[in-house]
Amino acid sequence: MALTSATGLAVSVGLTTTGDSVATEPNTVSLTVNGAHHTVVVDNRTSLLDLLREDLHLTGTRKGCDQGACGACTVLLDGRRVNSCLTLAAMHDGADLTTIEGLAENGNLHPLQQAFIDTDAFQCGYCTSGQIMSGVGCIKEGHVGSGDEIREWMSGNICRCGAYPSIVAAIEQAAKEV
Ligand code: FES
Ligand code: FES
Repeated sequence: MALTSATGLAVSVGLTTTGDSVATEPNTVSLTVNGAHHTVVVDNRTSLLDLLREDLHLTGTRKGCDQGACGACTVLLDGRRVNSCLTLAAMHDGADLTTIEGLAENGNLHPLQQAFIDTDAFQCGYCTSGQIMSGVGCIKEGHVGSGDEIREWMSGNICRCGAYPSIVAAIEQAAKEV
């Protein structure tokens, strides 16, 4: 039973099993990132996060836990925030992505990027790109009615430096401007 399930999972993500070994097949993915079109050949096991960092060299999206627990890898996928470490690149042929590198327009920071500076919403900065991308999603979704609501809807983004009060203040500031 367990073997059947494992084989079914392997086939569903593009793997082929031969005896005891598991082989992967390359997959061509075409997607738009920050307005630029890319076509990349990836191993079927490649996460969207690794495609961004390793293939497109967009290292502003951070790898923290690599298992969906910290939010450092948050990007906008077809306008919705996602943890890019938790999804396979091969599943997103034709997708439209926005990363931290694509937020500024015409040399002007996004209002939330500016608000992070104004409110001093970071210390080491490791979580910051994910916090900002998630904050942009939070504002777009309209989950900014109160500090508590922002904290609830930003709860998937962890800051080990504890910059949370300033992060909430930054989102409150930007929500008035976008
Ligand atoms: Fe993706 Fe932590 S690196 S959630
Ligand atoms: Fe250091 Fe958030 S600013 S982890």
